[in-house]
Amino acid sequence: MILPGGCARAETIRRERTRCPLLQWRLPRYNPHGRYRCSDGNSPSFSRCPAPFSDKRILLFLRGSRRKRDAHLAELCEFLRIPSVSTKSEHKPDIERAAQWVADKLRRAGMKTVEIVPTRMHPLVYGESLEAPGKPTILFYGHYDVQPAEPLELWTSPAFEPAVRNGNLFGRGTADDKGQVHIHLKALESLRDVQGKLPINVKIMIEGEEEVGSVSLWDFVQKNKSRLQADALVVSDTSMLAPGVPSITYGLRGLNYYQVEIAGPAQDLHSGVFGGAVPNPLTILCELFARLHDKNFRVTVPGFYDDVAQLSRTERKALNSLPWKEKEFRKTVGAPGYCGEKGSTIVERLWTRPTLELNGIWGGYTGEGSKTVIPAKAHAKFSTRLVPRQNPDKIAKQVEKHVRKLLPKTVTCKFEVLSKGKPWAAPYTHPIFKTALESLQQGFGKKAVFIREGGSIPFVTQMHDTFKVPCVLMGFGLPDENAHAPDEHIALENYFGGIRSIAQFYQGLAKL
Ligand code: BES
Ligand code: MN
Ligand code: MN
Repeated sequence: MILPGGCARAETIRRERTRCPLLQWRLPRYNPHGRYRCSDGNSPSFSRCPAPFSDKRILLFLRGSRRKRDAHLAELCEFLRIPSVSTKSEHKPDIERAAQWVADKLRRAGMKTVEIVPTRMHPLVYGESLEAPGKPTILFYGHYDVQPAEPLELWTSPAFEPAVRNGNLFGRGTADDKGQVHIHLKALESLRDVQGKLPINVKIMIEGEEEVGSVSLWDFVQKNKSRLQADALVVSDTSMLAPGVPSITYGLRGLNYYQVEIAGPAQDLHSGVFGGAVPNPLTILCELFARLHDKNFRVTVPGFYDDVAQLSRTERKALNSLPWKEKEFRKTVGAPGYCGEKGSTIVERLWTRPTLELNGIWGGYTGEGSKTVIPAKAHAKFSTRLVPRQNPDKIAKQVEKHVRKLLPKTVTCKFEVLSKGKPWAAPYTHPIFKTALESLQQGFGKKAVFIREGGSIPFVTQMHDTFKVPCVLMGFGLPDENAHAPDEHIALENYFGGIRSIAQFYQGLAKL
């Protein structure tokens, strides 16, 4: 890992830094191996040291005029109007249009080389600007594809007709991930407008298959390993802890996704003629899922928890003392009651404990009125979220074995693993995280924190494992912004705070 920084100014900064006992970090060491470790970044003293950089011109520029802010929003709305739903073939032309849109904007943001890379599924957009010799190189990753908008009738305003209400921009992709990708495009463009060129080297990869498991992405990365070399991976596809709490995510859960088909009788049967003497696959499926958790909400798959990394005392304390409010969580969820694994706090359950969730179940008759039938087959989709040290291959085998063991001999079972993805948690002691923290603090005027999250971006783990560089996840969504659901939105203050922070971050990296 090389983070160049040989200029005289960098030397001065480095000398200044060594005087601050909390900042004993050295360039360019980054150790991705061993136990992930949190720094004391969540303690207030970490942020007491003055920012080593601050460019007044950029801050002034970014404070911006009303007109400029409106123009940014209008452009984002153009992006949001393209229904680039990756899972539906009818949207293929929209996917192509979105890729083209991203490529145009990358050129405008100062990328010298821009390519739309065809893949077996959806195109990937790659751009680079390598005009800052001796300065760090970052690889930014994001996605232009979105989840389907259904159920359409639950949207207050149409999913692909963005609208502003109460300081929020509504529309599919506002938070996940078009709005966040746009933050980087505008930050880069602003830097170029102020300085004439970008202060660091930038490689940008925006894919169109994230929401369907990034099928082609890894192939592209493998084929372009040397071209994609960078000092750090930067991603904005996560959330802030809460409004007014800018956050850096240092851990994500992994995700295995499964599908089962339980088959009984050779065809659907009249439930009066046959009921009572024939196994009902739907009943058996329900029984199966009822038995996958115990009374304490623990997953019953033998060995499921064997490799789960224990939280260190320091990390447990840091995570549980974050400004996270259970009341807000309950308001967001809106359930009449709550459950979860005993012995863990809610934050620990969400970010550091593995789970098994039933995502969908179908079979038999679900139409209007009634139909007396014993269905021949029953189906379910379910998933496991994984945490550090759990191995997706091992877990998939354990889950399949347990499911087969729980099923009676009266049915057969087709068990499919649709996708596997590793968990990720990494140390945040590398200097780049301090630059990120300070940039967020400058961009938002608020204290920033280090968090983990329960969602999954399997690509981050793959990149961390392969390139062994720090992965900086600065997310600008909020947990209650309805990603994947009706009325998805992004808070405008976080969108603009994001642009300010990212511009500061890229500028700060030039001085690292
Ligand atoms: N942006 C999310 C991941 C995310 C959401 C991370 C919230 C942290 C907090 C991403 O687009 C996503 O939806 N990921 C899927 C998995 C993917 C393999 C389809 C997920 O987490 O379910
Ligand atoms: Mn996303
Ligand atoms: Mn998503």
